[in-house]
Amino acid sequence: MRALVMTAPSQGPDRTEVRDVAAPRPGAGEVTIDVAHAGINFIDVMARRGDTGYASWPFAPGKEVAGTVREVGAGVTSLAAGQRVAALLPGAGGLAEVAVAPAALTVPVPDEVPSAVAAAAPLMLATALLLLTDAARFAPGETVLVHSASGGVGGAVAQLVPALGGGRLVGTVGRADKIPAALKSGYDAAVAREGDLAEAVRAATGDGVDVVLDPLGTALLDADLEVINPSGRVVLFGNAGGGQAAALPGLDRLRAGNVAIGGFSISALAVTAPERVAVALRRVLGLVAEGRLDVPVTEIGSLAEAPAAHQLLADGRGTGKYVARIIAADS
Ligand SMILES: NC(=O)c1ccc[n+]([C@@H]2O[C@H](COP(=O)([O-])OP(=O)(O)OC[C@H]3O[C@@H](n4cnc5c(N)ncnc54)[C@H](OP(=O)(O)O)[C@@H]3O)[C@@H](O)[C@H]2O)c1
Repeated sequence: MRALVMTAPSQGPDRTEVRDVAAPRPGAGEVTIDVAHAGINFIDVMARRGDTGYASWPFAPGKEVAGTVREVGAGVTSLAAGQRVAALLPGAGGLAEVAVAPAALTVPVPDEVPSAVAAAAPLMLATALLLLTDAARFAPGETVLVHSASGGVGGAVAQLVPALGGGRLVGTVGRADKIPAALKSGYDAAVAREGDLAEAVRAATGDGVDVVLDPLGTALLDADLEVINPSGRVVLFGNAGGGQAAALPGLDRLRAGNVAIGGFSISALAVTAPERVAVALRRVLGLVAEGRLDVPVTEIGSLAEAPAAHQLLADGRGTGKYVARIIAADS
């Protein structure tokens, strides 16, 4: 089978190639999937650039897929060959014609959900849902601030807030030319991260915010704490800039602000509580099937085009969600 392989750490696409490799077979509790579409994610870029803990070399990227079950491993009774599924892949390897996934993180795809959209569900949509519901305990009517608002997860949060009862959405983006993309994906206001961010957010909200979803390490944590309302929740869920995160603020500051700072990692949750990831995945696919969640994706035509899409994300030039077509789409 053909698979995308990163041969060594790199800031560019030069060490990423399509290779012929042996197709995986499922172990106990696993399934293999004939991949129709695979999501492209920033975590692929973090692995490619050599961030600690994201890859061993050579590395096969791709954390989310949609396709059909090819083979089930020993002990798997909930899934059958030929079934349309979407899966989160803790070990990556999804940008390939065949992927292997734990059955616990593989769920059926409703007929109404196109394969390209289903491939954006296991990592991107499930993360956006779990950030809002589990990590931030979002309540309808609250104001949510999201950094990197015009990207994949940022856009998915904007789509999900209305489906969860509605609230005011404020996004930040790295460059002013991404503001229109954030507004198009559903943000009520979007600001570029330049100058006094806290002041810009306050001007945009007219008040503070109740929830902050922050994938930028600790770089903006001071600004997050400046704009958060009492009883607010800041969720740190990434480290896009790389490098060492700073120490978190002390107890006095948290008490004075009546604020909670939490962390979120879907990869960790897939290990510690896979059933919660599967429940979230079923829920987002259900919302899409019911027409309550509209997920625009940009489809790229082949595995060979994935390195260029990774580069768009690496350069901060991507907007929205990119999904690679691996084999002829089943819908
Ligand atoms: N914890 C989890 O479980 C989890 C799951 C999924 C994704 N994530 C995180 O969520 C974020 C969004 O992921 P995504 O896949 O949807 O990607 P994305 O938002 O489509 O692309 C990444 C964005 O990160 C921003 N960025 C900030 N500093 C950057 C830098 N030094 N280099 C490149 N980009 C930088 C850029 O947007 P701006 O310039 O507008 O800021 C860029 O567009 C990522 O940080 C990712 O690691 C975390």
